[in-house]
Amino acid sequence: MSDRNDETVQTYEQAAARYAERTVRADDEPDDLVPLVAAHAPPGVEVLEVGSGPGHDAARLEALGFRVRRSDATRAFVEMQRAAGHQIEVLDVRTDNLGGPYDVVFAHAVLLHIDRVELPGVLSRLRDAVRPGGLLAMSLKEGDGEEWSSHKVGLPRHFTYWREGPLRAALEGAGWEPVVLERVSWPDGHGPWLLTLSRRV
Ligand SMILES: C[S@@+](CC[C@H](N)C(=O)[O-])C[C@H]1O[C@@H](n2cnc3c(N)ncnc32)[C@H](O)[C@@H]1O
Repeated sequence: MSDRNDETVQTYEQAAARYAERTVRADDEPDDLVPLVAAHAPPGVEVLEVGSGPGHDAARLEALGFRVRRSDATRAFVEMQRAAGHQIEVLDVRTDNLGGPYDVVFAHAVLLHIDRVELPGVLSRLRDAVRPGGLLAMSLKEGDGEEWSSHKVGLPRHFTYWREGPLRAALEGAGWEPVVLERVSWPDGHGPWLLTLSRRV
């Protein structure tokens, strides 16, 4: 397992409050996965959110009628959400039992912290956690290579960047069929992001 991901989780342990303060989320963001899920899955179905962070997307999915199992590898986020009255579990997407089967797995800006060589295995684990025909909603940063960055939280986090072709191959190799795979940018130049909604084959 990657030390880089472990170190990144350690950063979140220290900087969860700063991340939450600096992450303001709105309904009309270009990289929003919530409308994609709402367009392809009926309200009431069960969603596993991995890397829930402060829980903004879980709250928005729940407001639309989805049943969300919130989870995160970072205990500080788990404690933050529990303090706000939410049920949430510590769950490392690389190693922990994911439970299920779910209808949807949701991972906004999470798997960009997984090393390139480890992503196919994680995608397979997520595939095994959904019902036949189940969905994966995922966003990653577009680009080449990888880097450590202290942007936003002032401590190092490791990012792996992806291009559409290799990402499509990784999804298909793990038993997902991309239904949507698109590149989006923010008007201020933030991004670009790759968004995908994929269906279990
Ligand atoms: C950029 S934050 C995104 C948080 C939230 N999804 C959001 O959109 O605000 C990345 C999240 O991934 C989580 N994370 C990193 N590595 C993980 C792993 N191996 N398993 C589960 N979660 C992980 C972090 O704890 C953090 O909550």
